[in-house]
Amino acid sequence: MTFEDRILRLKEEIETAKAKSQHDAEEFRIKYLGSKGLFKELFNDFKRVSSEEKRQFGKVINEVKQTAERKVEEWKASLSSESNTSSELDLTRPGMAQAPGAQHPITIIKDEVIEIFRAIGFSVAEGPEIEDDWHNFSALNFPPEHPARDMQDTFFVENPDGGEPHVLRTHTSSVQVRVMENEKPPIRIIAPGRVFRNEDISARSHCIFHQIEGLYIDEGVTFADMKQTLEYFAKEFFGKSKIRLRPSYFPFTEPSAEMDVYWGLETELDYRITKGTGWLEVMGCGMVDPAVLKSSGIDPDKYSGFAFGMGLERSAMQRFHIPDIRMMFENDIRFLQQFRSAL
Ligand code: DAH
Repeated sequence: MTFEDRILRLKEEIETAKAKSQHDAEEFRIKYLGSKGLFKELFNDFKRVSSEEKRQFGKVINEVKQTAERKVEEWKASLSSESNTSSELDLTRPGMAQAPGAQHPITIIKDEVIEIFRAIGFSVAEGPEIEDDWHNFSALNFPPEHPARDMQDTFFVENPDGGEPHVLRTHTSSVQVRVMENEKPPIRIIAPGRVFRNEDISARSHCIFHQIEGLYIDEGVTFADMKQTLEYFAKEFFGKSKIRLRPSYFPFTEPSAEMDVYWGLETELDYRITKGTGWLEVMGCGMVDPAVLKSSGIDPDKYSGFAFGMGLERSAMQRFHIPDIRMMFENDIRFLQQFRSAL
């Protein structure tokens, strides 16, 4: 269509346009005069036509535009009173259904854990998903070349500054370091977030998953404080009051432990999720190693603390009977729409 044809077509459309309601008038205004409307387009193209054509059409375009503006004004004035009268409304028409939203199962679990710790004075901290070696490993007492680094199969990311490669954080423990570097005790934080490990993807494990980290630093914090805090958590989160702490190893805690909660062995499902033991593995924890306090700028002679870290996927799978971890990352709407927060 030539430029002239476009203008003539527009002129005709505008001159014959009719509006029955405020709504029509507004639609007309948006279509022709709005910020993405047809006049905008026309004026844009107008910049590119020859100066001969500019002379020929400039005036017409402005006149047609003025006609459109006048029509909108008239309609808005004359239709204003009658636009919403009941005669226009069909009161028997069915309402517009709004599908209620759903929350991702991970979000539901995460919010629940945050709420439980918020109630006893913890606040939420965040850190970057792309980390440097210092915050993910070195400050947490993983020496270079130490086999402890193999515990966590790491994705490396090229460092834009050309230095040593960055990593996709392998755990949320990196946030502990960032918080200790920037805040003075008392520190009470939990840090939820996504973590990444170079692992084969299967029904039980994924290369992307979520953790929640906890950190409590103050004067005189003891192992007994940790145990009580975790007991409180087990009660609130699982509704179970018996926990046990098994000796374990993490480079950044000393002593280190695994916390299990006694789940029970009443049903067949209990057998399945506890592998016949009655105990459910919940998280890693321990007293923050003095070397870690020191690398983050906190005096280990004055302060002590505990830390813990738990995965969220397994809890979500148990809570909602999700058979395959991959379902949580596929964004299949038929899966996602099934979950509602109990909060
Ligand atoms: N970062 C550990 C992991 O990803 C979990 C962990 C264990 C976190 C002990 C802690 C801790 O804060 O104290 O396996």
